Amino acid sequence: MKFVVAVFQSSLGKKYVMAVTGLVLVLFVIGHMLGNLQVFLGREKLNQYAAVLKASPELLWGVRGALLVAVGLHLLSAALLLRQNSDARIAENERREPVDSTLASRTMIASGIILFTFIVFHLLHYTAHQIDPSYAEMRDAAGRHDVYGMVVRGFSNPVVSGFYIFSMALLCMHISHGASAMLQSLGLRTERNRTWIENAARTLGLVLFIGYTSIPVAVLMKWVQ
Ligand code: HEM
Repeated sequence: MKFVVAVFQSSLGKKYVMAVTGLVLVLFVIGHMLGNLQVFLGREKLNQYAAVLKASPELLWGVRGALLVAVGLHLLSAALLLRQNSDARIAENERREPVDSTLASRTMIASGIILFTFIVFHLLHYTAHQIDPSYAEMRDAAGRHDVYGMVVRGFSNPVVSGFYIFSMALLCMHISHGASAMLQSLGLRTERNRTWIENAARTLGLVLFIGYTSIPVAVLMKWVQ
């Protein structure tokens, strides 16, 4: 317990927690996108994939627990770093020195909050089936949960698709800045590789945006139905 308190009391500790949890979440987001893209391979492939993921409750709940802890610690370290930075800014103001507030850091907070709202909506939508309870009953010819049918039905609503596309744009921005900042916190970004890392982080954000948004767009265009 003392160790945990010490980590959250140190500025570097908070940045490490933020970076490591960010890495866990980025890896999940990449894997989730690759899994979801199987919608383009048809109903059979996507439903089979979803059934395999749910076949082991221990693994499923282990991953869910790890994601929940990662999101919780990511938000906690962000809130503590924010408070620390604003305290530092107040002290700097008192000394009448220039305030160093960047547009990127302000966007990270706003995009992070909206992304959190998106994740809550997304879980209610496709995991808890609270937005449309009929999703829970959907079955394919093999008697499996019809995740393919659920995704098509969900994204046939342009308002829902619009919210997903908007959220994916924010995810892209958040990761474009966050992935590079994460490597800085872990001491892996140097002046020599900085430009390369920033470009790679932007590319990752763009690939995630294109990959994820291709699904609601394909449903709205009736390429997937
Ligand atoms: C177009 C974009 C997306 C699609 C089509 C999609 C699709 C889905 C579907 C179908 C499920 C339910 C799986 C099932 O019950 O079998 C799911 C669950 C989930 N999604 Fe997404 N997703 C998208 C974007 C995202 C993003 C961007 C995130 C994170 C930032 C995310 C995080 C999650 C989480 C945490 C779960 C719960 C997994 C579990 O059951 O434990 N999704 N998604």
